[in-house]
Amino acid sequence: MNTITKTPQAKRVSGTESAAFLKTELLRRYLVVRGFSKKICETLEPEDCVIQTMPEASPTKWHLAHTSWFFEVFVLKQFSPDYHSLHPQYGFLFNSYYNAVGPFYSRPHRGLLSRPTVKEVFHYRSDIDLLVSELIESADEQLLAKLEPIVTLGLHHEQQHQELMLTDIKSVFWHNPLRPAFRKRDSIQTSPVPAIEWLKFEEGLHWVGHEGPAFSYDNEGPRHRVFVPAFSLASRLITNADLLAFIEDRGYERPELWLSLGWNAVKERGWDSPLYWEKRDGKWFTMTLAGMTELIPEEPVCHVSFFEADAYARWSGSRLPTEEEWETASSGLPLKGNFVESELYHVAPLASPASAGKPSQMFGDVWEWTRSSYSPYPGYSTAPGALGEYNGKFMCNQYVLRGGSCATSQSHIRRTYRNFFPPDARWQFTGIRLAKDLV
Ligand SMILES: [Fe+2]
Repeated sequence: MNTITKTPQAKRVSGTESAAFLKTELLRRYLVVRGFSKKICETLEPEDCVIQTMPEASPTKWHLAHTSWFFEVFVLKQFSPDYHSLHPQYGFLFNSYYNAVGPFYSRPHRGLLSRPTVKEVFHYRSDIDLLVSELIESADEQLLAKLEPIVTLGLHHEQQHQELMLTDIKSVFWHNPLRPAFRKRDSIQTSPVPAIEWLKFEEGLHWVGHEGPAFSYDNEGPRHRVFVPAFSLASRLITNADLLAFIEDRGYERPELWLSLGWNAVKERGWDSPLYWEKRDGKWFTMTLAGMTELIPEEPVCHVSFFEADAYARWSGSRLPTEEEWETASSGLPLKGNFVESELYHVAPLASPASAGKPSQMFGDVWEWTRSSYSPYPGYSTAPGALGEYNGKFMCNQYVLRGGSCATSQSHIRRTYRNFFPPDARWQFTGIRLAKDLV
């Protein structure tokens, strides 16, 4: 996914002092992000790291190797003149989808790779880390200006995979009848969730898309103007209790509520509740990264597909927001929320009611489905070369999600960030916020 568009920090380097600062900062960020991938694995055993539950997911071991391969191909092979790969075959095993780099191993079969072992992959990571660190440390001002944007892209790429590591290991543990815990969690305090308040937004011409010197992916631009008709947005996310009302009203049994493809999915896959929900002796339970727990009604609903979000919205007499509405409504809000740094690895109930007409829970907890198809902004074109494959070639048959989740790093998300998944995907931390037309 995604390619880099800007090299702002490099452009700001004007002397030895700022180059030294940039170098220190780049190394610090490199070690922090790479270290977090390792930290995720602290509670995992090698057996956990090799399983692939479905074609869309990957084993933890593969994520660990692929993110290292990215630095090997796009940093070391490009900028280290004497670099010789210690493991030339890893290029085939751990290339994800970059045709311009070369052929790659079948994605649905990543779980069949018992070798290299988890231990060998960690050694591979250490080797790459040593070489990338040495390259950054020894770089002169010119080389540093070239390295900075690619290393930054590699770190954001790794943060994307860290989120996938968490959602994929959740799927692994859910498939195990023992329902293991990835991390233990303290019991949580909840208080009643306030009723949804409908926040009104006037019609207007708005700028959307990324602007400014900070990093962004290419799919967030070019920044452009859009006319957004008047709309109202729900002040909070849809909760488990809200979704239960949909189930109790036979929402999963009524074709008139569903898009045709969504109804096909309901019938063919036997959907009768969000992913990971189970009813035992009349009580609902759900799988979390802390193991199987009783469903907490006040928590935001998660692990719903676009189809389910859309059907829920139709049932409730509303609709999903467009991505432009979401971006407009989030303007001026602090980029705060329940992100992976909170170490909950799960959604959290709304702590306080919406304040002063501002929507709550816009960032963190769950990625919010929008009704916008994932397509290029006006004037968008893919970058030349292999990194041009990061993003643009996926602009078909997917929907945009906004805001980040409890598995997203706070330093990775932006107001303009466009995540995307197919409409039947449910294993990410995906949830529902509603909107309405104002006519
Ligand atoms: Fe990747």
